[in-house]
Amino acid sequence: MKIKLFNNDKSKQNKKSKQDASNKTTSKHSSSEHDKSKQSKSGSSSMAISDKSKFAIVESYKLARTNIMFSLSAYDKKVFAVTSHSKGEGKSTVSANVAISFSKLEKRVLLVDCDLRRPNVHNIFNVDNKTGLSNIIGNMVTFEDTVHRNVLPNLDAISSGTIPPNPSELLCSPRFVNMIKRLTDEYDYIILDTPPIGVVSDALLLKDLIAGFVIVIREGSTTHGDIRELLDSIKLADSKVLGMVKVGCDVSKRKKGRGYYYYQYY
Ligand SMILES: Nc1ncnc2c1ncn2[C@@H]1O[C@H](COP(=O)(O)OP(=O)(O)OP(=O)(O)O)[C@@H](O)[C@H]1O
Ligand SMILES: [Mg+2]
Repeated sequence: MKIKLFNNDKSKQNKKSKQDASNKTTSKHSSSEHDKSKQSKSGSSSMAISDKSKFAIVESYKLARTNIMFSLSAYDKKVFAVTSHSKGEGKSTVSANVAISFSKLEKRVLLVDCDLRRPNVHNIFNVDNKTGLSNIIGNMVTFEDTVHRNVLPNLDAISSGTIPPNPSELLCSPRFVNMIKRLTDEYDYIILDTPPIGVVSDALLLKDLIAGFVIVIREGSTTHGDIRELLDSIKLADSKVLGMVKVGCDVSKRKKGRGYYYYQYY
């Protein structure tokens, strides 16, 4: 399964506008003082799809959702992780938007920020990150006290929490594993936003918890070598790829006369 997603902002469409994109990225990652100008009335940032998003973007996420559901149907687990090869390729944005898309099906969905190094879920949904996953695993707070209920209808989120010195250890701790297993009774789908596999191995540590990985590749940035390396790492870890989502596609390059079905399969 491979889905293409478009930019919803022309300024991010190619590398020439990288400066603009990197400014935005910096403002997101620099601190919890994220860019308030990106917040929509619903409380989520402009990175999250909403009723006002372009039709083609919403439809692309619906298509991604359908294909992920088909891939998941082969497994008992309804937990999956979103990852990519390198940083900044769009993992958090895709995780959040796929989670939103699933929640529209009236399913209970939990999005967990497992990127304990460069967390972003709290920015996307404009929720605080004073405590979160790392604090739950560290037994400092409870899940109940920490989960952000209904960031959107049917969608709960857990932010990363305090950035720990030992993210990898936390992600393979029994406390984390047991928490996710317990939560599978409460949620229909659990989506884990993870760090890039080409940089750190955190995502692969989740392999026994998840049905597989949804891989994000970014047009003009992710190389064939990156994809090969990523697939090899996942295979070596004895895990599965549920599908690939390609982001940063230039809608202006769409071939005329083929409608949006052109974007479905390649
Ligand atoms: N489909 C897309 N089209 C264009 N730009 C996008 C798309 N998805 C994400 N971006 C932009 O790319 C940047 C990085 O996105 P995001 O934080 O989701 O990436 P990431 O892979 O999670 O990064 P990190 O490795 O730091 O966790 C952001 O500025 C975001 O707005
Ligand atoms: Mg991220």
